[in-house]
Formats: sequence, C-alpha cells, structure tokens
Amino acid sequence: VDLSHSNTMALACVADVVMTLTDEAQLDAFMANYVKDAEPTKSLFVLSGGSNVLLPAYLNAIVLRPQMRGITMTAQTDRYVDIEVMAGENWHDLVLHTVAQGWYGLENLALIPGLTGAAPVQNIGAYGVQLEDCLEYVRAYHLPSQTWHHLTAADCQFGYRDSLFKRAPNTWLITRVGFRLHTDASKILASYGAVQTVAQHYAEQQGRTQPVPSDVMQAIIDIRQQKLPDPKQLPNCGSFFQNPVISQAQFIALQSAHPTIVGYPMPNAMNKVAAGWLIEQSGLKGGGLAPIMTHQQQALVLTNHSPYQATQADVAKAQCYISDIVYEKYGIELAREPVWVNTDGSIGFDEHVV
Ligand code: EPU
Repeated sequence: VDLSHSNTMALACVADVVMTLTDEAQLDAFMANYVKDAEPTKSLFVLSGGSNVLLPAYLNAIVLRPQMRGITMTAQTDRYVDIEVMAGENWHDLVLHTVAQGWYGLENLALIPGLTGAAPVQNIGAYGVQLEDCLEYVRAYHLPSQTWHHLTAADCQFGYRDSLFKRAPNTWLITRVGFRLHTDASKILASYGAVQTVAQHYAEQQGRTQPVPSDVMQAIIDIRQQKLPDPKQLPNCGSFFQNPVISQAQFIALQSAHPTIVGYPMPNAMNKVAAGWLIEQSGLKGGGLAPIMTHQQQALVLTNHSPYQATQADVAKAQCYISDIVYEKYGIELAREPVWVNTDGSIGFDEHVV
C-alpha cells in the first residue's frame, strides 16, 4: 500500500498492511484476531493524519488508521458546552465548526494540519494556547492489554509538544477526545502582539470595537498562511525542530554575543530560544540539503521539494546538516519534533548515526 500521499511531508513510503478503522468495534474485532497469533510477526503502527511523522521507505508493520467520524454535544450550560469528537475528524474543520457555533477556546489552534485523534499526542499548541487548555478527556485503546481507557487531562501528562501518548509510542490508539468550550465571546485569548493587531483590524472592518473569537481565528489563519507552507502545495510536517530550552546563564552569555537573539523566560531559571531565529541567523533560511530545505518564510519548517520521491534518509541528512551548523555557531543542540518511524514500525532514531 502506497502511503506517500498519506504523510504531509510526502516521503516515499510503502506499507505492508493498512487497516482503516471507521468504528471502535472494528478495533476490538481486529485485536481479538491479532492476539490469537501467539507471536504476531508484524507490529502495529498507528497513523492518523500523517502531519507529524517521518515514514520509512518500507514500513513492514500493520498500519492502523483511526477514521471514526462524529461530533456530539454532551453537556451545555450558560457558560460552556462539552463536546466529544471522534478521532477521524479533521482538526481545522473542527475549529471552524466550533467557532461558527459560538463555542470558543480552539480558535488559536486554527489551520493546524491533521486529525483530532492525533492532537493530544503532541499536545498541539500555537499562539499561547495548547490543546490541554480545553481538553477534558481522551478515550483510548491500550494496544498491549487490549483494554479501553478513559483518561482525564491529568492522566495524559501533557507537556510542551508532549504527552503520555508520545512517550509510549504504539501503545495507545485514541478514538475520542472530549473538550469543554466556553460561550463567552468577550473572553478571548489573543496574547500574541501580531495576532492582536490583525484581529483588531478584522473587528474594525466588521464595525466592532473589540475583536471576537472569529476575528482572532481569522487573524491566525492569515498569519499562518503567510508564514507556513500549505502541505498540499509544498510538503512539510510543520515545525521540524523544537524550540530548545537552555539555562538562563547560557542564554545571557549568548545574548551578549548576539543581542538580537529571541528567547522567552521559563520556570526554574531556564530560557526557551526561538529555533527559527537560530537557523535563520546561521544563514540557513531557505537553505538545507536538497531536496529537503527550510522554508523561506519560517526557517523552523523543513519542506520537501521532491514529493513522493525523497525518503526519510534525505530528511536525516538535512537535519544533521542544519543542526551541526547551528551547534557550531551557538552551542545549542536542536531536537527534532516529528516522530521518526522505523521500518519495523518502532519509533525513534539517533540522528547522529547518519
Ligand atoms: N524567527 C526567526 N526566523 C525564522 C522563524 C522565526 O527569526 O525563520 C523568530 C521570529 O521572528 C519570532 C520567533 O522566532 O521572534 C518565534 O517565531 P514564531 O512566532 O513564528 O513561532 P515559532 O516559535 O517559530 C512556534 C511553534 C509553531 C507555532 C508558532 C506560533 C514550535 C516548535 N513551533 O513556532 O508550531 O505555530 O510557535 O505559536 O513550538 C508546528 O508545531 O508545526 C508549528 C508550526
């Protein structure tokens, strides 16, 4: 089965077996059969929207694709609504739908590619909001024990681009996500300067003095469209590197050598540094190792200029090339954000081996 069109980086990938799941009972039935085989010869790999994975040229695993659909309102008060969203719902369409209904909280997460079921895995975040801010629970299947679980937000152990699900790969298959969204249009979360300015502009265009959540969402859509490549036009998997966190002392030392460095203070005398700035200042904006190049408008994003032909190995080479140059200049190691998938379906790879 060709999966090169099922990952937004458009890496060449062929998988042995792909199983699309359109309801939860199908998973129970499949697993009952799978475990009958005392030592299953192929491992399982869960593929959602494919927007944060680096797939191998050959994937010798059983690929499970959760594609259950549906959005249900489970509670409503004068202050909030609770909704339950099935894993296969497109994330951006969900954001548009909730804002159109007057249910707020997800607007800052507009235009993030992928499906709802994958959103908790890396606790998607943008413009000061993370998924965990609105998430109430996750219903997920625990593959090793073949049991269903209801996980509260605390159970999910969310961190920056991180969760229980991300730390235990190929262990959980998320089928439903529960959200609590508020209905107060005046309670908006445009904390980023650029978002506030554009949202204010949209509000005034509509004859409002203050932005409402749909103005914030429109501002974020605009900003993302300007900076981030549309995977349909230029394949990519979003931010390729995480923003590194370094000590306050190291940051101050860097700041005296490079006064324009962009960073944000973090708890425990740490500082987060904008990896996009480090890459750009290393002369690598728009650069890289062909066909894998950083994006002209946002150096943190790697793009694939040879769709369906370039492989994971090309990505590894470009990653090493970029991170070595940044390390030499700033002494900071850049960590990869998307999930590296091995041929046997296992996760993780030491890029320094290349
Ligand atoms: N910057 C540069 N050069 C660049 C890119 C950025 O100098 O090429 C500087 C900017 O000028 C700015 C700072 O770096 O001062 C931060 O840039 P930006 O606001 O674009 O955000 P980011 O830190 O680069 C993060 C997320 C994005 C998310 C944006 C907005 C990570 C790894 N990335 O990027 O997430 O959309 O903030 O909240 O945290 C994604 O994960 O796929 C993604 C796009």
